[in-house]
Amino acid sequence: MQAQNWVLITGCSTGIGRALVDVCREFGWGVIATARTPDSLADMRDGIDLLKVRLDVADMDSIQSAVRAVEHLPLRALINNAGYGQMGPLEALRPEELRAQLETNVIGLHAVTYAFLPIIKQRRHGEGRIVHVASVLGRLSIPMAGAYNASKHAVVALAETLRLEIGREIPVILVEPGAIQSKFRVTVKNAWGDLPQRVAGTPYQSTVDRYANKREEYAGKHGMSADDCALKIFRAMNAKHPPRRVIVGADSYWSQLAHKVIPAPIWEYAMRRMYSLL
Ligand SMILES: NC(=O)c1ccc[n+]([C@@H]2O[C@H](COP(=O)([O-])OP(=O)(O)OC[C@H]3O[C@@H](n4cnc5c(N)ncnc54)[C@H](OP(=O)(O)O)[C@@H]3O)[C@@H](O)[C@H]2O)c1
Repeated sequence: MQAQNWVLITGCSTGIGRALVDVCREFGWGVIATARTPDSLADMRDGIDLLKVRLDVADMDSIQSAVRAVEHLPLRALINNAGYGQMGPLEALRPEELRAQLETNVIGLHAVTYAFLPIIKQRRHGEGRIVHVASVLGRLSIPMAGAYNASKHAVVALAETLRLEIGREIPVILVEPGAIQSKFRVTVKNAWGDLPQRVAGTPYQSTVDRYANKREEYAGKHGMSADDCALKIFRAMNAKHPPRRVIVGADSYWSQLAHKVIPAPIWEYAMRRMYSLL
């Protein structure tokens, strides 16, 4: 029998999105798994509970085609998961890099929500779900990640606003993960392109040299698995009364708390020290 509840997930080629596809299917939901490169979904087990659709969140035509491809399904939920991290000190961040970051993580997230909301609204009052995957970096900022910090702070604002506007009819759930094991840090290195050359000979050089490896090492050692993260997101989405926020990982929880209670000068000193900016 075909699933009664369908969820559309963006960014299913790897990481949290990929893990979400499995967990949603496991619990009986139908999944519209989307990715900008359809080949990246080819190894997923086919079934009547799975529809694979091409969707690049930064490409309006692909969003419109995806809407047409799923119109026949009883869509109940949307998980805005797709995103990447544009790292690098703001002094060396090209405006086009910031624009591209916001285009995917913010405008793309809104464009997908805007396109699929009318379909989700056809469900009974209270049934629909919108999930925005932000980050702990939507609640506090770290050096070397200005573009990403800005994009995730914007996602937090979009989720909070949408919740105020439609939250009584369609719960809006904001997800704030800390470090998760995924391809995220590989993509970071691809996205920063010639950054190491740009900062060569500047005080940022050693920070950039160490940045990716340190973060990768941290996530590898202490990060939560994408499967565990996906399960937390699924539980929140599937709950009768979904939470407003899902803080994923002890690192996200404790750093948000520390940011609130530690006086700003001490917080800044610790951050600069951590990123070798003293
Ligand atoms: N990993 C972490 O530590 C962490 C922490 C906090 C928040 N997050 C957030 O969690 C979400 C998922 O990240 P992840 O950790 O699972 O990283 P990931 O393994 O790199 O997965 C990111 C996914 O987003 C997709 N994507 C990027 N740009 C896209 C576009 N324009 N259109 C459609 N899909 C696009 C990627 O597709 P391609 O394969 O085509 O690039 C990939 O499927 C992101 O929003 C990220 O910011 C991650």
